[in-house]
Amino acid sequence: MKIQIFQTHDELSDFVAGEILDTVRQKPEAMLTLATGDTPLLTYKKLSQLSINGDADWSRVKFAALDEWVGVPPENPGSCKSFLNENIFNRIPLQQQNIHLFDVRSADLEKECAKMDHFIRNHGPVDLMLVGIGVSGHIGFNEPGVSADLYSHVIDLESTTKSVGQKYFPSDIVLSQGITLGLKHILQAKKVIVIANGHHKAGIIKASLKGEITNNVPATLLRRHPGALFALDSEAATLLDS
Ligand code: F6R
Repeated sequence: MKIQIFQTHDELSDFVAGEILDTVRQKPEAMLTLATGDTPLLTYKKLSQLSINGDADWSRVKFAALDEWVGVPPENPGSCKSFLNENIFNRIPLQQQNIHLFDVRSADLEKECAKMDHFIRNHGPVDLMLVGIGVSGHIGFNEPGVSADLYSHVIDLESTTKSVGQKYFPSDIVLSQGITLGLKHILQAKKVIVIANGHHKAGIIKASLKGEITNNVPATLLRRHPGALFALDSEAATLLDS
């Protein structure tokens, strides 16, 4: 596990966008998993600019979703699908047939999990996984206490995830469960970048990097991954020396 600290969110986002592009340049049939959320928004803006001007071939790149809110229709602007459409798929020339998302309209979510696991087994492992981190230490919807042995699964969301998650939605919404890649997928990815910015992430970044390695803080498990990189801005890194 490595740590890289950037002065600003802008520099952090330039770096991460470059890492995604380099992965595709080096391996045009790479599999990517890219998180939703506020943290990587600027990264995706920069990635779309780079991909317009750049020389990468996206036509064979595979995309496996990280997670989705259960019970939220995909057309809701707060769904992960809406986010990915707006910030990635509408801007970067991925092929529709190479994209695999969780379909939460399905009556059988276990089957959705099995389909995702099958997609990753067939085309993976994931070459580059970009994940954010919740203030609880969750990665994807791998909530505190989750087993590290799970692949895709449906999970009850923690109260922090339900309340913080309101920020993505135009009006108040009941959030109760998520469907997510498991820690097993995350730990099997060749490279995992955990991106974090801002003072509000400083406490959980310190806990993740300096605290006990435990599934009660899922992000701590990434310290055992040789291909994990915590990419932070200086605000998220504030407490690391204290
Ligand atoms: C999003 C996801 C979540 C977020 C995390 C941080 O796909 O899986 O784990 O990455 O909650 O969210 P932001 O970036 O909004 O602070």
